[in-house]
Amino acid sequence: MNIILLGPPGAGKGTQAQRLVEKYGMRQLSTGDMLRAAVKAGTPVGLKAKAVMEAGELVSDEIVSALIGDELDAMGPAVGAIFDGYPRTAPQAVSLDEILTSRNRSLDHVIELDVNEDALVERITGRYTCATCGKGYHDTFEQPKVAGTCDKCGGHEFKRRPDDNEQTVRTRMAEYRAKTAPILPIYDARGIVTRVDGMADMDDVTAAIEAVLES
Ligand code: AP5
Ligand code: MG
Repeated sequence: MNIILLGPPGAGKGTQAQRLVEKYGMRQLSTGDMLRAAVKAGTPVGLKAKAVMEAGELVSDEIVSALIGDELDAMGPAVGAIFDGYPRTAPQAVSLDEILTSRNRSLDHVIELDVNEDALVERITGRYTCATCGKGYHDTFEQPKVAGTCDKCGGHEFKRRPDDNEQTVRTRMAEYRAKTAPILPIYDARGIVTRVDGMADMDDVTAAIEAVLES
């Protein structure tokens, strides 16, 4: 099964993708995570992407589609893909169709996380992750069970994203409204979109997504 998690910054795409990976053994393909890894490693892609990401704007369609194709090629054919933060523009949606078709895959579901943008700034500015394993946390909504220790790997170092400040978040949201939300009708026309209330408790959001995948 191959699915897209669609929603604005802070909607919970990464949070829910991590849970689906654990439950179903699917693979999370987050273009944001791939780009951040490229920035950290100082690769040519990372050098191009760094300033664009810090400004909250979109990296070029060619770069992100190439990253997705490479990741899919590195996966076993039987492993399902969760596209997190991709596609984000109409050309990326076209590329994804080509990428999937050429690998004998098809798109089963698009889950739209329906959220109230005003609440998302608080979600994003409170977010941090384990520096070792990447598990996500939040100052208010999801703290480690033992303060300062990652629940998943026992790590003690945590980090915050450089683009998680209010000004950049506003730009990221404007980019979502202008370029990403308009691709929904493509998938609506195929009858594969389910809207899930992304403002519900995290566990309820997970249950709603699981119900779609198991339907
Ligand atoms: P990317 O990394 O994709 O960021 P984003 O889309 O802005 O989304 P986020 O990761 O901020 O939010 P999320 O939906 O994953 O929320 P999360 O689960 O963490 O992209 C970053 C940048 O890379 C882009 O700006 C762009 O420059 C570039 N880029 C990436 N992909 C690209 C592409 N395809 N094309 C071009 N450029 C691209 O949740 C947020 C917080 O809220 C967490 O702390 C979580 O604990 C909490 N939370 C989650 N769900 C709930 C809930 N139900 N209730 C309460 N709290 C919750
Ligand atoms: Mg994310």
